[in-house]
Amino acid sequence: MHGDDRQGNGRRWAFMIGAAVLIGLVLAGVYVALLRPLAGVPGGEFSSNGEQIFFTATSQRGTPITADMGGGPMMGGMMFGGSLSCASCHGPDGRGGELQMMGRSIEVPDIRWEALTSEEHGAEMEHESYTEETIRQAITQGVDPAGEPLNWPMPRWSMSEEDLDDLIEYLKTLE
Ligand code: HEC
Repeated sequence: MHGDDRQGNGRRWAFMIGAAVLIGLVLAGVYVALLRPLAGVPGGEFSSNGEQIFFTATSQRGTPITADMGGGPMMGGMMFGGSLSCASCHGPDGRGGELQMMGRSIEVPDIRWEALTSEEHGAEMEHESYTEETIRQAITQGVDPAGEPLNWPMPRWSMSEEDLDDLIEYLKTLE
């Protein structure tokens, strides 16, 4: 009788230790899968929400920002390792340039506020220069001031009005 009891206790312990290890593993998994990437999203690193959106396509407000490049929502993520942002294509200074993509060389325009709204830019791109309103349309609807669709791979972006305001404020600060 005594012996049986001890065996029962032993089994109970083994079960509890097993359960504790399992819970530990699950928590570690949750940490790696969810919390670490979240912790990795730079919050303090950027001086404004607009700057964070420009570099990471994430908002300090926590509101979602997505890019539609045609070819489904995963298209951009697949090609840029899940971190597609304005800076990926237009460069960290917003000046654009040549981008090698899928075996093609793509001309990416300068999107600093000064450049977009200047007279010369309009003449060069064969449409009026941009205004705040038409820049918003270019970002969210992918059309230029003449209403012509912008070429691939410029994505059509979905983001809140507030995030778009912040982003445009940031474009104004690029020199
Ligand atoms: C995958 C690459 C890519 C990403 C990411 C991207 N763009 Fe573009 N963008 C382009 C290309 C290429 C064009 C030029 C399209 C054309 O010539 O028709 C463009 C055009 C534009 C234009 C119009 C410029 C003009 O001269 O007509 C604006 C404004 C713009 N992008 C803003 C942004 C902003 C803001 C972001 C981030 C939220 C962004 N883009 C992200 C590739 C990209």
